[in-house]
Amino acid sequence: MMSEAGYEGSVLLRRGTVRRMRERDLKYVMKIEEQAYATPWSRQSFKTELRENEYARYYVLGYEKEIIGYMGLWFILDEGHITNVAVAEAHRGRGWGKYLMLTVMEELCAQGMDRMTLEVRVSNQAALRIYEQLGFLEAGLRKAYYSDTQENALIMWAELDDQSVACKKDALLLGHLR
Ligand SMILES: CC(C)(COP(=O)(O)OP(=O)(O)OC[C@H]1O[C@@H](n2cnc3c(N)ncnc32)[C@H](O)[C@@H]1OP(=O)(O)O)[C@@H](O)C(=O)NCCC(=O)NCCS
Repeated sequence: MMSEAGYEGSVLLRRGTVRRMRERDLKYVMKIEEQAYATPWSRQSFKTELRENEYARYYVLGYEKEIIGYMGLWFILDEGHITNVAVAEAHRGRGWGKYLMLTVMEELCAQGMDRMTLEVRVSNQAALRIYEQLGFLEAGLRKAYYSDTQENALIMWAELDDQSVACKKDALLLGHLR
C-alpha cells in the first residue's frame, strides 16, 4: 500500500518542471553548485558551457517558482556524458534528483541517444544509490580522479531504453522507485 509520505511526494514531483538552463538562471544554479561540490565550478565555467560548447546541454529543475536543481551533459555521438547533477540541500531526499535525471533521460531517448555515462566519487553513497536505481552499472575505476582529495571515481554507464525509462518514472511518481 502506498504510504501517505509517498503519495505527498509524488504530488510534489508532478509539479516539478524541467527546462533548458539560461544564463539568467546562474544566480540560483551557483548557490546550489556551491552547496553541492567541494570544488564548485565558477559562474564563468557555466557561462562558457552555455555560450560556447556546442556539445553541452544544461537543464534546470523548477518547483514553485524556484530553481531547485540542475543537470548538465555533453553529447558525444549517441552518448550523453553527465558533467554535473545537483539538488538544493533543502530539497534533497524527496525524489527530485531521480525525477530530474529520469526527465532528462526521457528527452535523450526521444532524441535517439543510446547510452549515458558519468563518473562518481566512490564515497558518494546518495548519488551511487540513485544511479543504480536508474539502471547505471559500474564499468571501471579512475584512480585519484578528483584532484582535491585524490579520491577514486567509479565510471558508470546506462543503456537508454525509452520503455524502461518511462516505467521507472511511473514507479517514481507512484512512490515505488526506491
Ligand atoms: C545526489 C543528489 C543530486 C541526489 O538528489 P536528491 O534529490 O536528494 O535525490 P533523491 O531524493 O531522488 O534520491 C536520493 C536517494 O539517495 C538516498 N540517500 C540519500 N542520502 C544518502 C546517504 N547518505 N547514503 C545512502 N543513500 C542516501 C536516499 O535514501 C534516496 O534513495 P531512496 O529513494 O531509495 O531512499 C543530491 O544529493 C546532491 O545534490 N548531492 C550533491 C551533488 C552530488 O553529489 N552530485 C552527484 C555528483 S556525481
